[in-house]
Amino acid sequence: MVDFPNSFPFRHLLGIEQLSQQDIALILDQAKTFEDVCENPEKKTIPALQKKIVVNLFFENSTRTRNSFEIAEKRLSANVINFDASSSSLSKGETLVDTATNLEAMRPDIIVMRHGATGAHSLMARHVTAKIINAGDGSHEHPTQALLDAYTIKEKFGKLDGLQVAIVGDIRNSRVVRSNLWLLTKMGAKVTLVGPPTLLPIEMKETWPDVTLSNDFDEIISKMDVIMMLRCQFERGTGNYIPSQSEYTRHYQLNSKRLQNAKKEVAVLHPGPLNRGVEITSEVADGHNSLILQQVTNGVPVRMAVLYLLALSNDDVGSCKTL
Ligand code: CP
Repeated sequence: MVDFPNSFPFRHLLGIEQLSQQDIALILDQAKTFEDVCENPEKKTIPALQKKIVVNLFFENSTRTRNSFEIAEKRLSANVINFDASSSSLSKGETLVDTATNLEAMRPDIIVMRHGATGAHSLMARHVTAKIINAGDGSHEHPTQALLDAYTIKEKFGKLDGLQVAIVGDIRNSRVVRSNLWLLTKMGAKVTLVGPPTLLPIEMKETWPDVTLSNDFDEIISKMDVIMMLRCQFERGTGNYIPSQSEYTRHYQLNSKRLQNAKKEVAVLHPGPLNRGVEITSEVADGHNSLILQQVTNGVPVRMAVLYLLALSNDDVGSCKTL
């Protein structure tokens, strides 16, 4: 008999900002219980979402997040619908709210959504009764990425509290960094943001006063337990903020030479997709310090945990708290 938590206090996962330390720990602990299930050759192994319809609504491209959610949903026996934005009526000018209310008319239980606009998920949550999971909104949040990053770090070090974590690169455009800042600071890690001044907004200190900002990767690298490299988001205009790609790589690329100055057991993370040869070299991305593929593996039990906890939460809690 599965012990269903009936007082889980969340309705949506819109971001990490709203979560407490206990909420984060609960999700990570729940994910741990799904690790073995993910290795099971029998695919639909847990009946928790057997009667639920989950819609994956991706308005932006994705490889890792979309497939990882779909595997997680199928592992939990959900009925999965994949919405293809490129072949939908959005291309005929339908608004997001009209799309939402029309989807709602088909009574899905959970909507997993990625959208290019910050706040699109909050808008969606106001117009549908389905539970919403944010799979990335603009440069705002990517909560399940931060949760799987935390899970991966904890798996290696057994803790998050007190660890020195550098997040390096295109801080300005990254939703991954914002979700990680909320999560890591709530869990007691010491975060240093590293990048050229143009990609490292000083205002971030207003929201996260305990975070250190640095323009000198070589100066901080030896103190770090974890180095999380970020993708240069050229499609969002990163090229306009750097003098040249070669100048950027000279100062901020994680390569073997630079890694020699790091701790021997430093963990190297990257949310993907990689710009090999730009922010990280292949030698490092595929090297023995890299946990990049482990992050992808861990995405499945972490997303299973989020789906499971939200699916079993009471419907009436959402009016007062959004996860
Ligand atoms: N990390 C991440 O969000 O990757 P995708 O864009 O492939 O989903």
